[in-house]
Amino acid sequence: MNQHLRLGVNIDHVATIRNARGGDHPDPWRAVEIVEQAGGDGITVHLREDRRHIRDADLDTLMARTQLPINLEMAATQEMLAIALKHKPHAACIVPERRAERTTEGGLDAAGLHNELAPIVAQLSDAGIRVSLFIEPDARQIEAAMRLKAPVVELHTGKYAHSTGPELAAELKRLSDAAALAARNGIEPHAGHGLTFENVGPIAAIPQIAELNIGHFLIGEAIFIGLAASIQEMRARMDAARDVA
Ligand code: PXP
Repeated sequence: MNQHLRLGVNIDHVATIRNARGGDHPDPWRAVEIVEQAGGDGITVHLREDRRHIRDADLDTLMARTQLPINLEMAATQEMLAIALKHKPHAACIVPERRAERTTEGGLDAAGLHNELAPIVAQLSDAGIRVSLFIEPDARQIEAAMRLKAPVVELHTGKYAHSTGPELAAELKRLSDAAALAARNGIEPHAGHGLTFENVGPIAAIPQIAELNIGHFLIGEAIFIGLAASIQEMRARMDAARDVA
């Protein structure tokens, strides 16, 4: 097993720190340059309704300046749809969004929201944007993604990241079964949320998973070891789990 597992670096929290003081430092663009040099495969940003981290101007800069593929995380709203269609990022990952949450707390109910999601997925796909649905690792949600004709699902690893003991093993099995089910049905599985140096290995070892999107830990660790080193260490752990020399 040695298919290259892509690492999408979520730079939202560089903007969180910038916004804490209302100025322009630290500039998320500098983080993008480091991701490019350190071997990241893509940039992920979540433009939230409340613009608490990445803002519209950041997205303008990213789209104009980087060659790396941009994965825009977005709520299924008309406002975000219009922004995605204007910028045409490489990928759009539809996430559930609640104003009061600290981070994306659970997966999208792709099954329950079929009618709401169908026109959004169709319009993004028609514009050439690779649509991903951020879902819990469960068969019902994958079947819903199939009905919606989404080419990608991103499996929410939050529960795995917060589990221990037998619960951890059960969560890992759920993720691995979901990745296999998605791949069998022609959907490319990605994964993300709450991944760290300590817990990334077993997820990176799931052979069908093609991409991991990691943010908070990488940016937090960058305070201690620098962003390039943080990305390179994550890359090394992902490669080790896939037996890449
Ligand atoms: N994937 C998705 C869809 C997310 O919403 C997030 C958090 O913004 C991540 C990955 C990254 O999670 P974390 O910041 O915990 O690494």
